Amino acid sequence: MCGIIGYAGHRPAVPLIVEGLRRLEYRGYDSAGVATVVNHDIELVRAEGKLSALEQKLSEKNLINSTSGIGHTRWATHGIPVERNAHPHLDQEGRLAMIHNGIIENYQSIKEDLLKKGYKFRSETDSEVLINLIAEGRKEHPDMLEAISWALKQVEGAYSIAIIDVESPGTVYAARVSSPLVMGIGVGENFIASDIPAFLPYTREVVFIEDGELLRITASSWDVFKSDTLEPVEKEINTINWDVQSAQKGGYKHFMIKEIFEQPKVIFDCLAGRVDLANNKVDLPELDDMEAPKRLHIVACGTSYHAGLWGKYLLEKWAKIPVDVEIASEFRYRDPLLDPDGVVLAISQSGETADTLAGIKLAKEKGLPVIGLCNVVGSSISRESDHVLYTQAGPEVSVASTKAMCSQLTVLMLLAFYWSKRKGIHDTKQFAEFLQDLKSLPSVLESALPAMRDRAKVLGRKYADASSFMFLGRGPYFPLALEGALKLKEISYIHAEGYASGEMKHGPIALIDQKFPTFAIALNDDLFPKVKSNLIEVQARGGHIIALTNPGTDLEVEHEWTLPEVSGPLNVFMVLPALQLFSYETADYLGKDVDQPRNLAKSVTVE
Ligand code: G6P
Repeated sequence: MCGIIGYAGHRPAVPLIVEGLRRLEYRGYDSAGVATVVNHDIELVRAEGKLSALEQKLSEKNLINSTSGIGHTRWATHGIPVERNAHPHLDQEGRLAMIHNGIIENYQSIKEDLLKKGYKFRSETDSEVLINLIAEGRKEHPDMLEAISWALKQVEGAYSIAIIDVESPGTVYAARVSSPLVMGIGVGENFIASDIPAFLPYTREVVFIEDGELLRITASSWDVFKSDTLEPVEKEINTINWDVQSAQKGGYKHFMIKEIFEQPKVIFDCLAGRVDLANNKVDLPELDDMEAPKRLHIVACGTSYHAGLWGKYLLEKWAKIPVDVEIASEFRYRDPLLDPDGVVLAISQSGETADTLAGIKLAKEKGLPVIGLCNVVGSSISRESDHVLYTQAGPEVSVASTKAMCSQLTVLMLLAFYWSKRKGIHDTKQFAEFLQDLKSLPSVLESALPAMRDRAKVLGRKYADASSFMFLGRGPYFPLALEGALKLKEISYIHAEGYASGEMKHGPIALIDQKFPTFAIALNDDLFPKVKSNLIEVQARGGHIIALTNPGTDLEVEHEWTLPEVSGPLNVFMVLPALQLFSYETADYLGKDVDQPRNLAKSVTVE
């Protein structure tokens, strides 16, 4: 999973490509590189580590005259993250350069054939095999499009690639199968990239490239073909309405804290046009042409999976729909027994997660309709789904997902409401009150966030030297305990476990001592007495406790963290930012790279 960008136009290509890579760095940051054609030769500059290392190397070169090229930021899959494995890769003659996001699964057998033909390889990557296969194809097919098409017919796996060729300076070729690729259409310039922000300062006109398509851009032209037959494909140009500013930090130290503080607006945007207070209803026109499902299979990864686990509580409680929630990487290989009258709901911020995408394909093979709950418009999952609900969270840059989960919870809540009403089983009075409270939620959360951050700072600093943390929650807050633990692991590298509080006595309680603190969610609801007694068990073993609670509960723990109480399920929107802020303040205090934690990537487009 990597970020790729290609440019053909009238501006100096290398600075533009580096700037684009900076906006794609969330996709990986093990190494970076650029290639461009200068005086009938390929100029290749690559560096291990973050983009600043590449910039340093580029400052020693004079590449400002070139007006086309390709660039890559890498998240290592095949081959350790060192310079020789960094992209772009050259064919052995050094006449072609290629960048690649994805995995070529049959690269070993192709490599063996090429080795027999005398090819030599400089790296351990599958990508270098592919560019040499294209070079081999070139011998029989002098036209680049034909050579690429010939090679792609032989590869299995996932890829988005972009290629430059010394024979055709000013031209960039690109293709995709199961990895993201978009094309930007400018005036006297054209772009390709893994994601729109890479070229957004230059154009808002975007063409989404589909699996099995191959394209060619120059400064003044763009053409898309079917990769296998080279038949031309007509494409629609879409106009993007969000701007680069909304993908920048806006005065905050990190994207993560900015995105946490954006959550009131995210809720507001998710509700806009969907909550009809006057008629006590929720509008989700995207789903009007389907019945409420008999059973729902939710498929997702990471934080999106936790959102799905939470959604199960409301969908079962309000809409009386049985819900299974599955980790996509398990679901796709399990030959699951799906209800023929069921529906699959795929939740994904990026809309590009390979396992979730594979889960969708499996569901479709089994004949089930798919609803995609996605943030990124035009993403692969949104295009593969039969119905799409957009979460409207705006671009999320920090690798650890925050505001996207908030938007997923909001839409899941609306969905439970919508289907309960469609089934005619909703409680009219209760829902009228709920919708009223939902409308005022953004302002309540906005005023609560600064105090939450202060409390998070104090507690995060106090326990920053802990080597392990337990997160406990019950009922709908069990998924939140999982999410709290995931956030702390991801950005502070402190080991953390999320557990159902009632299950703790079946094992993890053995871990509790003075050095193993517990972070509990103990709100003022029906389950409060149960959670309270679980916490007494922790206290009895000498464990330190931080507990999220509400005013007026009779909890007696070392660190009570009182959150404003809102109505019923809406309390999740207070708990979530408190957990996120606790992790953020801990990680920032420890001096960690909050927005780009080690070994992680924002969008996991490989298995
Ligand atoms: C990666 C990200 C997580 C995210 C997960 C699922 O692991 O680092 O923050 O929750 O992928 O991503 P998705 O885009 O499908 O929600």
